[in-house]
Amino acid sequence: MNFVPNFVKRMNHKMIKNIGVFTSGGDSPGMNACVRAVVRTAVYHEIKVTGIMRGFQGMIENDLFPLHARSVSNIIHRGGTILKSARSADFIKPEGRKKAYENIKAAGVEALVAIGGDGTFRGATIFFEEYGIPVIGIPGTIDNDLFGTDYTLGFDTAVNTAVEAIDKIRDTAASHDRLFFIEVMGRDAGYIALWSGISGGAEAILLPEEKTDVKALVDSLMAGKKKEKSSSIVIVCEGDDAGGAMKIAEQVKSLHPAFDTRVTVLGHVQRGGSPTVFDRILGSRLGVAAVEALMRGEHSKMAGVLNNQLSWTEFKNATKQHSPLDPDMLRFSKILAI
Ligand code: F6P
Repeated sequence: MNFVPNFVKRMNHKMIKNIGVFTSGGDSPGMNACVRAVVRTAVYHEIKVTGIMRGFQGMIENDLFPLHARSVSNIIHRGGTILKSARSADFIKPEGRKKAYENIKAAGVEALVAIGGDGTFRGATIFFEEYGIPVIGIPGTIDNDLFGTDYTLGFDTAVNTAVEAIDKIRDTAASHDRLFFIEVMGRDAGYIALWSGISGGAEAILLPEEKTDVKALVDSLMAGKKKEKSSSIVIVCEGDDAGGAMKIAEQVKSLHPAFDTRVTVLGHVQRGGSPTVFDRILGSRLGVAAVEALMRGEHSKMAGVLNNQLSWTEFKNATKQHSPLDPDMLRFSKILAI
């Protein structure tokens, strides 16, 4: 039974009367599910909610509006973010942050839920230091690069989108005995590449976390040919040290012109689409947790999941370093590619 005990309802909720919620940085599937959870949890606890459009930029431009339980109907399945998103250059300046503070104060906003990536949490940290506005963060990025959570919101959907594309490319690669280089997103974090590469049965996965040796790559592709592999797929993380897929394909072709190579850059298709069940549950779970953390008087922490348990990481630790790739996954990705 979905029963919330009375003591949860009573938790300190008198202390906060109005919570602002915004999405910031690159959008990611599951953000809407999370916004919905924030709004409904606050409403459940009789706290007002203010929607802030386009992240910090919307605060500066006073693009604020009240959100109700019904404002977030029919969004749980939608990709993108109804609150829109932006990377605000103005918020980096003290004048921008002052304006943002004045606007949210005038709207009665006393605390914030920030759904975004490391830039968002850095901005939230400065904002708290300067103006004392408590912020709880939710990791919303397809890159899965935040320390303190096993998964960020949108990563699962993005990987599934990438794998769907890789599967399709494999069909045509096999028909023509071609070598495909498929570039995936992730900036300088190789999560999308590693997970989609293993799931898509890639012959090689090139990651920013490992030094890329193009000559060794050619040797291993040649060895594959000798073992009767007629087509191959190489997944390239966009932030690989040897360059993007286009550049690496050129280098491979110059070392071994006989390869019939093609390049596909998956790009922003990975950022959109209906969130998977995993991302809907993650967004819902972290949205509820964020509001309840603010009610307990917490701030400057990111909600996440570690070993499927809710976890809390201070912003300064969440943004200090990337989560390292699992060495076991790196190892078996190579075993399975023979
Ligand atoms: O951080 C998410 C991400 O999609 C990265 O994987 C990618 O490098 C970047 O954002 C693209 O940013 P933009 O949408 O501004 O081009």
